Amino acid sequence: MRSILAIISILFIYAKCDDKYNEKRKQLVELELRMALGGNTTLNDKENIVNNCLMQHKFNELDYGFDNPEHYNLSHHFFNYKKQIQTSKVYKIIKSMPKGAVLHVHDMAIIGPDYFLNLTYMDHLYVCFEKPIRFWFSYNVPNSTCDGDWKLMKNVRKAAANVTQFDADLRKHFSMVCDNPDVVYPSIKETWTTFMGYFTTVYGLISFRPNWEKYFYDALKLFRDDNVMYVEVRSILPNLYELDGTIYDKRITAKAYKKAINKFVRDYPDFLGAKLIFAPSRKVDTTVLDSDIQTARQIKKDMPDLYAGFDLVGQEDLGNPLIEFVPQLLQAKDLDFFFHAGETNWYGTLTDENLVDAVLLGAKRIGHAYALAKHPALIREVIEKDIGIEVNVLSNAVLSLVKDVRNHPLNIFLSLNLPVVLSSDDPGAWEADPLSDDFYVAFVGVASRLSDLRMLKGLALNSLKYSALAPERKVRAIHDFNTKWNDFVNNFDCKSY
Ligand SMILES: *[C@@H]1O[C@H](CO)[C@@H](O)[C@H](O)[C@H]1NC(C)=O
Ligand SMILES: *[C@@H]1O[C@H](CO)[C@@H](O)[C@H](O)[C@H]1NC(C)=O
Ligand SMILES: *[C@@H]1O[C@H](CO)[C@@H](O)[C@H](O)[C@H]1NC(C)=O
Ligand SMILES: *[C@@H]1O[C@H](CO)[C@@H](O)[C@H](O)[C@H]1NC(C)=O
Ligand SMILES: *[C@@H]1O[C@H](CO)[C@@H](O)[C@H](O)[C@H]1NC(C)=O
Ligand SMILES: [Zn+2]
Repeated sequence: MRSILAIISILFIYAKCDDKYNEKRKQLVELELRMALGGNTTLNDKENIVNNCLMQHKFNELDYGFDNPEHYNLSHHFFNYKKQIQTSKVYKIIKSMPKGAVLHVHDMAIIGPDYFLNLTYMDHLYVCFEKPIRFWFSYNVPNSTCDGDWKLMKNVRKAAANVTQFDADLRKHFSMVCDNPDVVYPSIKETWTTFMGYFTTVYGLISFRPNWEKYFYDALKLFRDDNVMYVEVRSILPNLYELDGTIYDKRITAKAYKKAINKFVRDYPDFLGAKLIFAPSRKVDTTVLDSDIQTARQIKKDMPDLYAGFDLVGQEDLGNPLIEFVPQLLQAKDLDFFFHAGETNWYGTLTDENLVDAVLLGAKRIGHAYALAKHPALIREVIEKDIGIEVNVLSNAVLSLVKDVRNHPLNIFLSLNLPVVLSSDDPGAWEADPLSDDFYVAFVGVASRLSDLRMLKGLALNSLKYSALAPERKVRAIHDFNTKWNDFVNNFDCKSY
């Protein structure tokens, strides 16, 4: 009834306007749709069937939200509607859709808390109950300092009154998810403190050499299960260690990557593999940066197939701005840069200006570029130099840059058809899918109501186009993607969602 009234009133308004006005209006609306990412492409008949199904469900969800804004889940904190996503038909379609590559993800935050909880059942594990809680595998009591003393994990668990409860409490240290996020995380300070604590906690569990190789193999499995076919992973390259206290240098970590990737591709030949972006901390002095640059050069030389590029990581507002390192970085352009830049709400600060340096230093892609919408000259550079923009909507929401995803600048990037790729940053830390949750929230919550399958396909294709794959491998990747896409489209049945 409501919609019939709406149509009648729109027809009434149209009738009152002259034809020329209506024509101009129609042209402007259509032009904007065409200008958006994917908007100037066409779908074949089979794709149109998928699209009709997808859009019917998308309209249902959004129009319900428009009519009942108090129930619109995507305007709230991700932790409050995370479980609800699973019931969305749009989500289910996106989940089964081939999505191409993940180009922005940090290795230590891919798999969720249950995986780490399992690792705490391994032998020879010690625990230190500090804040944040830490772990270390060792034959003997670890000799690094611990205020409450290192305790054998097995004994601590044995002494627990209720192991189910003990494990449930322990699991909380491996995740940022909580029931009352607006209270627990009032500002970026609390989110980043917890987030950094998460890395301290999982560090000892996965940098144990036997776990590391298995962990990354298992991570690749999760990506593949989420219909992702290729990954570029950022890593600080933790120094792996053994039970006897042996500690290896970073090149061994890179080699372990190579081993895990090769094994995975042997086991799953339809998966294209993974590459490494060496991404040490940005909170360093020039001496440490020099040694990081040396390490990157060495890995690039020894393992050119594995090495994709170089980045600097950590909370951007607190870390050193790129400008401090420009003289050194200008001498290291051979390393190929994929800088995090503009992951900030502080307009006009040095952090904000990291975007300028990322562009001038010749970054191939920029991580986040959240602040880019405020910089028209830089937008022009991004278009001219065709610099990929790695957008991570859920990360920006969880890490306190935006509360209501409808205000995320991705909608501007999409409307301008900037070279956007969607990614997930640290999905394990907030128990999100390797990619599907980010795709869903971007598609329903951020993009235009009218954006359709063409945008989703465009985003998936961008993820391969802006990857660091060699040109001939890229052609192959896009070919493989199209095969997967056609399978998806040909086997699509709206009733099964
Ligand atoms: C759409 O694509 C056509 C053909 O490539 C091109 O001529 C046209 O300018 C494009 N339109 C927009 C709005 O990008
Ligand atoms: C939002 O989530 C609630 C439960 O948290 C659910 O009852 C409701 O149907 C959801 N709304 C939409 C539009 O999905
Ligand atoms: C944890 O271990 C149990 C028991 O071996 C297994 O069933 C479960 O799948 C594991 N969970 C993860 C996330 O690996
Ligand atoms: C142990 O803790 C779990 C989770 O809190 C609870 O469901 C269970 O009843 C407890 N068992 C005992 C024996 O108290
Ligand atoms: C700690 O142990 C490692 C290996 O077990 C050893 O190499 C190192 O010297 C020790 N450090 C201290 C301070 O004892
Ligand atoms: Zn990141």
